[in-house]
Amino acid sequence: MTMRRRSVLAAGAAGAAAVLTGGTSAAAATRTPATPDRRRLASAVAGSAWPGGSASLRSLADKVGLRIGSALYPEDISTASHSAIASGQFDVYTPANEMKWEVVEPEQGTFDWTGADNLVNYAKAHGAVVRGHCLCWHSQLPAWLTTDVANGKYTQAQLLDLLEQHIFTEMGRYRGKIWQWDVCNEFLTDTSPSGVDPNNWWIVNAGPEVITKAFQWAHEADPFALLFYNDYNNAGEDGTNAKFRACAALAESLQKNAHIDGIGIQGHLDTQYGWSPEQMREDIESYAAMGLKVAVTEADVRTFVNNSADQVPTDSLAQFAQPFEYQEMLKAALAVPECISFTVWGFTDENSWVPGSFKGEGYACLYDVNLRPKAAYSAFQSDLALAAFGAPQRVAGR
Ligand code: G3I
Repeated sequence: MTMRRRSVLAAGAAGAAAVLTGGTSAAAATRTPATPDRRRLASAVAGSAWPGGSASLRSLADKVGLRIGSALYPEDISTASHSAIASGQFDVYTPANEMKWEVVEPEQGTFDWTGADNLVNYAKAHGAVVRGHCLCWHSQLPAWLTTDVANGKYTQAQLLDLLEQHIFTEMGRYRGKIWQWDVCNEFLTDTSPSGVDPNNWWIVNAGPEVITKAFQWAHEADPFALLFYNDYNNAGEDGTNAKFRACAALAESLQKNAHIDGIGIQGHLDTQYGWSPEQMREDIESYAAMGLKVAVTEADVRTFVNNSADQVPTDSLAQFAQPFEYQEMLKAALAVPECISFTVWGFTDENSWVPGSFKGEGYACLYDVNLRPKAAYSAFQSDLALAAFGAPQRVAGR
């Protein structure tokens, strides 16, 4: 196991060096006569930022202006062992559930901001910022709302009023304290061609203008927050790239009719499916060329495992594929300066959403079920250390 892990790390490190320096491998770089930059690289290789070293992901990412984040569950804040990782490694936090409508307004007019406040305060205490998630989504809506809508209690206009109120209430509470907000989440179809889903709960019940209106209200509610449209398979993951095109078209319409700052690429990968890192990078570049910022918002890479308690991959090749796919996503993000943050959807397999949602799968995070860093964590360390020598500085996020 140890040997195998070492070889993964060596392969990951060499690959990172090749991509980020334009050379062929880290080993080759150390054999080539030293130039000043190569000497700096060699010293980074030898220093604490190399696999096994102690440099945190956030300190390494900071060198190129990238914020590196994680979704946090309440226990990530309240449990000392989790909190040490959350605060030590990451500097942008997304509440996994605590800002969703069903959580903040469980009964109509009765609010519970406990989890959201905790996360915002925690970020402040640890020199981190917050990605608010998410204001308008078809899932995790309060039961009072979905029941009333199903019973025909509201007209489309009344439902839009409720959404407007929700956006102003939640964004107003945290005005000036949230770096990026996911305003609308997962409105596009998984078809080719793709487009706004006519069967989406919001489109059906509030009408097709709901997305534009949500972005208009969000910009009014907190003009300082960066506003994102967030989705999965919108950057090279779906084979046809149809969802990227639909996402770009939606963003273009929002640029004309409302206000949008960026695209969130969720990045939920699975080792059993192919995907194209080159396409992801090209798509990020295309979003950037439209004047948009980009955030990788929910990265994880799942695979088949023995059981949900231990989450040991059943295919030994997965131990290579999992960190490799993580690395390729990170490199695509690092290549484009408009990509300002990279967030993983939970940092430990212990509380990952994957085993509960994908039968027989797990091992999706950077840390295992016992909070030990996995090969993917070390690969991130290496790639971020090397990024300081080749990746462009991020554009400013306001
Ligand atoms: O709060 C209840 C609790 O009272 C109850 O005892 C428990 C029993 O199962 O369930 C708890 O609710 C769960 C909730 O997470 C909070 O832990 C829900 O069952 C569970 O379905 C819910 O899952 C969340 C999922 O969104 C729902 O769609 C995951 O934690 C969360 O990580 C996940 O996040 C989404 C992003 O928001 C959007 N993109 C996809 C991503 C993964 O699904």
